[in-house]
Amino acid sequence: MTLLRRRRASSPPAGPPGPGRFPAVVLCLVEKRMGASRRAFLTQLARAKGFRVDRAYSAAVTHVVSEQNSGAEVAQWLEQQREECGAEGDPALLDISWFTESMGAGRPVEIESRHRLRGGWGGGGDREWGRGLPYDSALSQEALETLAEEAGFSGSEGRSLAFTRAASVLKALPGRLSTLEELGPLPGIGEHSRRVIQDVLEDGVCAEVERVKLSERYQTMKLFTKIFGVGVRTASRWYQEGLRTLVDLQERGTKLTRQQQAGLRHYDDLNTPVERGEAESISRAVQGAVQRCLPGTSVTLAGGFRRGKPHGHDVDLLLTHPEAGREAGLLSRVVSWLDSQDLILYQHSQENSYALQEGPEPPGGRDVMDRFERCFSIFRLEVQGGPGAARGWKAVRVDLVVAPISQFPFALLGWTGSRHFERELRRFASHERKMVLNSHALYDSRRNLFLPAVSEEEIFQHLGLEYVPPAQRNT
Ligand code: UTP
Ligand code: MN
Repeated sequence: MTLLRRRRASSPPAGPPGPGRFPAVVLCLVEKRMGASRRAFLTQLARAKGFRVDRAYSAAVTHVVSEQNSGAEVAQWLEQQREECGAEGDPALLDISWFTESMGAGRPVEIESRHRLRGGWGGGGDREWGRGLPYDSALSQEALETLAEEAGFSGSEGRSLAFTRAASVLKALPGRLSTLEELGPLPGIGEHSRRVIQDVLEDGVCAEVERVKLSERYQTMKLFTKIFGVGVRTASRWYQEGLRTLVDLQERGTKLTRQQQAGLRHYDDLNTPVERGEAESISRAVQGAVQRCLPGTSVTLAGGFRRGKPHGHDVDLLLTHPEAGREAGLLSRVVSWLDSQDLILYQHSQENSYALQEGPEPPGGRDVMDRFERCFSIFRLEVQGGPGAARGWKAVRVDLVVAPISQFPFALLGWTGSRHFERELRRFASHERKMVLNSHALYDSRRNLFLPAVSEEEIFQHLGLEYVPPAQRNT
């Protein structure tokens, strides 16, 4: 009996309705406006997550989910269903947002008033409901970030950047907002983004975004691009080949690089946030290694952790030595030593390919973020608690970057991020100052010379800007 129940819970119930993992919840999806194929896809998705989804309405149904229907329309639909099956039942009438959030959470989320359909146009309640309420712009930001991600998945870098910028503009707004008009014209927010924000303000959700989040392509691309070593191109090719899951990659003998194999092997760990304490512990381990290999070398924690974030997706460490030139050959010795201590699960290194004589990077050559000697690695970190506790260790992505001392302030500025901050700073340098800033140097194109700096502060001075401390570079 117990066995039977367990087996049912772990394998998604096919076709006929099973009990599901959440016995108190029985879903029924309204086909109108959703369409048959999308309804089938969403049904499959929910069942895979352990939800019971019935094809036909019955008194057992607890949650009716529809997309772009008004409350009145669904109420009418319900009346008709009740008549046809001769049963009553009093299900909650919900918008797709409840479904999306529940799929994201992997369980039925609590029903909030914004999920319920009311009279008027559906999509998260009627338009009157959201009007005038103090509103945190976080939901709009999230919506725009989803569209940015989706545009990136389609290879539309320009569109992706436009949505990212719009999201950052919102992030920078002080306080709450309740209507778009209240803000007046917003530079950096285009027509499309404006529409998305308006939908979210009025309805709590934007139908277009909800559609994206539930599309098979978006979900698959998200799954695949989260594999270390897999970019949009590879993920997209796999999607086109009909691959949909991580198991597909293994079972269909997909050709994987050594990096992707490691990414797949440690998929769960690498997609679990790295805690600050873990980053510091890795930083100390590297510190220990460099002291053995080349005393005097400094190790600096950069990336999100330097900006004060409590967790991140990886650990970014910058290595430099106060005497120019001494850093040469350091990285391979450090990596070998770490490896000999069984601290490294995967690594590949890249040589330094930067030469100052080359002059500033040509415009457009800036996607190559920098050319430092660098090691992309996965560390084996001993842990006491958290998801890896049973095993006693956890895989963590670590970037080791070696900068010659003369370039160190530029490397530090570049590697502290955020990505958006760097992009805006470089844009400012080029548009307002006719200077080229990258992680190696600052070049003044008007005077044709490099501007050296011994600290981040000095770089801001060259740019004619006030110093921005790391904690304020999070936008
Ligand atoms: P990350 O991608 O690690 O971002 O790059 P993060 O801000 O630390 O956030 P997490 O890790 O997702 O929490 C850190 C910074 O390093 C620069 C980027 O500008 C980014 O802001 N970077 C990253 C490079 O210069 N080159 C690279 O190849 C990667
Ligand atoms: Mn990072």
